[in-house]
Amino acid sequence: MAKNVQSKPNYGIDAPGLLRFFFISGAVALAIFLVVLFSSVLGQIPKIIVVTLLGIAVTYLLGMGCFMLYGSKVMKLKDRDKLLNLVQWSGSELVLDVGCGRGLMLVGAAKHLTSGKAIGIDLWSQQDQANNSSAAALSNAAIEGVTECVEIKTADMRQLPFSENYFDVVLSSWTVHNLEAKIDREKALSEIIRVLKPNGTVVLVDIEHQDEYAKYFELHGMTNIQFYNNPIRDVILKALTFGSFAPSAVLACKAA
Ligand SMILES: C[S@@+](CC[C@H](N)C(=O)[O-])C[C@H]1O[C@@H](n2cnc3c(N)ncnc32)[C@H](O)[C@@H]1O
Repeated sequence: MAKNVQSKPNYGIDAPGLLRFFFISGAVALAIFLVVLFSSVLGQIPKIIVVTLLGIAVTYLLGMGCFMLYGSKVMKLKDRDKLLNLVQWSGSELVLDVGCGRGLMLVGAAKHLTSGKAIGIDLWSQQDQANNSSAAALSNAAIEGVTECVEIKTADMRQLPFSENYFDVVLSSWTVHNLEAKIDREKALSEIIRVLKPNGTVVLVDIEHQDEYAKYFELHGMTNIQFYNNPIRDVILKALTFGSFAPSAVLACKAA
């Protein structure tokens, strides 16, 4: 009998509904584009205009779908390893992953620990990540061999169930932007600062609002605020996606 053992971690696909929308509407636009291109119903000038507009729509829709898929499956994993290498690990840290989903940052951080612990919190939104669950995060932790130092809790990032000054490192990846209202995002940031120990480090990677996060950290006494991005990739992605998709990180420390 074949063994059903998953040997590679699966960190999932973000915003699966939006991804489906881009690919389905892109395919429909492509079909209409081809019909118009090879039909002789329209006169030459109207045909050029319609074909050009449809060509732009097809490129945008399928391009966005591809960016999102590449972001979830490739870009995010590469960025995770680079970002986690910026933290000065001793191995004994208490780490929080805010909105851990299927455990990308959580498991990555756990690999740096010896006696420490990585705790992930999430509300398991299926809209934000496909097949999102604590079981999926724990399964990825098991595949990566870090079950012993990983713990999962169900909690809202606007109300973290931890006392103040608790964590040495707080991580969050592609999560805070899911709070649509600025006041909610600020609540999440204030919770991150509250649970972080003095001298603790936060690494907040997201696809938008990074300036807002940095400003909030500065206003609330955080130090060593740094942006971590790939400037060329940033400019290209912002231009191609009208500013809606440009993953980069904000790093900051809580004052001693
Ligand atoms: C795009 S996914 C990213 C998951 C994971 N950090 C990663 O990078 O793969 C966003 C995550 O935020 C979680 N989330 C959304 N709103 C939340 C909230 N208010 N509190 C906690 N988690 C939340 C979702 O359930 C989802 O797991």
